[in-house]
Amino acid sequence: PTKVTTTSLQEKKRLGQPITAVTAYDYASARIIDEAGLDLILVGDSLAMVMQGQPNTLAITMDEMLLYTRGVRRAVRHALLVADMPFGSYHATPADGVANAIRFIKEAGAEAVKIEGPRIELVKQLTQAEIPVVGHLGLTPQSVHRMGGFKVQGKTIAAIDALREDALSLEAAGCCAIVLEGIPREAARLITDALDIPTIGIGAGPDCDGQILVLHDMLSLTFSPAAKFVRRYADLGAVMRDALTEYKRDVTARTFPSEAESYHLPHEARLLLAT
Ligand code: KIV
Ligand code: NA
Repeated sequence: PTKVTTTSLQEKKRLGQPITAVTAYDYASARIIDEAGLDLILVGDSLAMVMQGQPNTLAITMDEMLLYTRGVRRAVRHALLVADMPFGSYHATPADGVANAIRFIKEAGAEAVKIEGPRIELVKQLTQAEIPVVGHLGLTPQSVHRMGGFKVQGKTIAAIDALREDALSLEAAGCCAIVLEGIPREAARLITDALDIPTIGIGAGPDCDGQILVLHDMLSLTFSPAAKFVRRYADLGAVMRDALTEYKRDVTARTFPSEAESYHLPHEARLLLAT
């Protein structure tokens, strides 16, 4: 397959072809995702929760995000590689945001960055700096304290109007796509229809131009009940538990490793040792 770019994503929207996206945080997963032919891989700050067991995404740092992004970079040849700007890396001033975004491009090989919220001036400056930006509206997890928890957003006509205005402003400022998270299907449809750039939904219904899921959610590598919008495509948690239980049993019973799984001295040396 040909390389996915910000412009080929736009083309997919024009052709009515859904964009497929998922998160990745490590080399092995990213290889499998890329080989499966998905369009977009996001090194999401959700890694704070699913890889590090933190209660929210707020504490993850630039250096940590860069570390995970570098591993994913080495695996990805086809998909568009997007890095999530962590909380604090763009909230004080647009200049901070530009400097940190440049680090993702230069030091980790990201091809675009994602930022949460309607930060119009920052998006303009990133675009000016030749850095493609994916916006993110609706339930923005870095706003957890303001929102009073992880709650569905855009539940009133006024809130939907505000979201649509924000989305149009992000598009005008230069965003190449917008993630819509945790909003009613009807709201996501309105916003998607209003935009020329693609929307990528998570918990935003089927009318977005694409879908994204957190890899650990869709593979059941998490430890709490899934949100309503998650579909479990595999139970890798159960696969790993079974494998480890079997390994433990084999080691305990001394049936692992077998003769065939052992290295041997050459025949003559073995004879010598035996005498
Ligand atoms: O961090 C993340 O995984 C995300 C996606 C859910 C869009 O921001
Ligand atoms: Na995120």
